[in-house]
Amino acid sequence: MLNEKVRTGINGLDELLGGGIPKGSTVLITGEAGTGKTTLAVQYIVNGIKMFNEKGLIVVAGEDVETLQKFMLQFGWDLRQFEKEGKLVLIDLTSVKIGIPADVRFTEFQLTTTDIKQLISTIYRAVKQNNIKRVVIDSVPNLVTETSSVEDLRTALLMLCTLLGRIGCTTLITTEIPEGAEKLSTYGMEEFVASGIIKLMFKKEGNRWIRKIQVRKMRGTKHKLEEHVFEIGKEGIKISNK
Ligand SMILES: Nc1ncnc2c1ncn2[C@@H]1O[C@H](COP(=O)(O)OP(=O)(O)OP(=O)(O)O)[C@@H](O)[C@H]1O
Ligand SMILES: [Mg+2]
Repeated sequence: MLNEKVRTGINGLDELLGGGIPKGSTVLITGEAGTGKTTLAVQYIVNGIKMFNEKGLIVVAGEDVETLQKFMLQFGWDLRQFEKEGKLVLIDLTSVKIGIPADVRFTEFQLTTTDIKQLISTIYRAVKQNNIKRVVIDSVPNLVTETSSVEDLRTALLMLCTLLGRIGCTTLITTEIPEGAEKLSTYGMEEFVASGIIKLMFKKEGNRWIRKIQVRKMRGTKHKLEEHVFEIGKEGIKISNK
């Protein structure tokens, strides 16, 4: 298992990663608002299901599940169908956070509180029960509540990611870089939970804006360091080989 790589299946990304993400590790997807973090993370899960026959789990935090399902359908990714087929588990933290009653929520593994411990045990239970291989937590800043400190969250996330790694699960967590900030994450702790970092950016070239991606760190792998141009198109993220 040591050198086993989990392919994202995203055009061009596995090449940047030196083949894929080391199996069992946790990778942080970071970038400013709207850089494509959710799209990349969901594409990793969808490719797992469609290309590699691996089940996935997504913790939806900070975005309405129905809206996410609708948006992802535009890339041809039918999350609802995958759920029905038992290939995908969605855990809806957003509903709990904004107080939507349980009987009008839609996901199988329902939370009753925003408590991080409950979230972790629900994720772990779902992964074990369904033999899930790919997990996404989108996003880490949205896991923070009034009653939990960032330090608590860091410890809890580290525990979760370690446990998931031990059972062969490869995890992506997302975080946001505040607009214009010279840092890699919202709290400065997310990069320490992860053994790899992928950064998404907007860059101005002449008078037009382009999207760029860079693998900042990937423990245990020789990877490329250059920033690469990517696009979000009809089929999701595609990295240009220029
Ligand atoms: N169907 C689509 N086709 C092409 N581009 C799209 C499509 N849907 C969204 N986009 C682009 O992707 C961007 C949002 O991507 P995404 O939601 O993955 O970003 P994010 O980094 O997760 O954003 P946030 O910080 O709000 O969570 C949009 O702002 C838009 O530019
Ligand atoms: Mg997002």
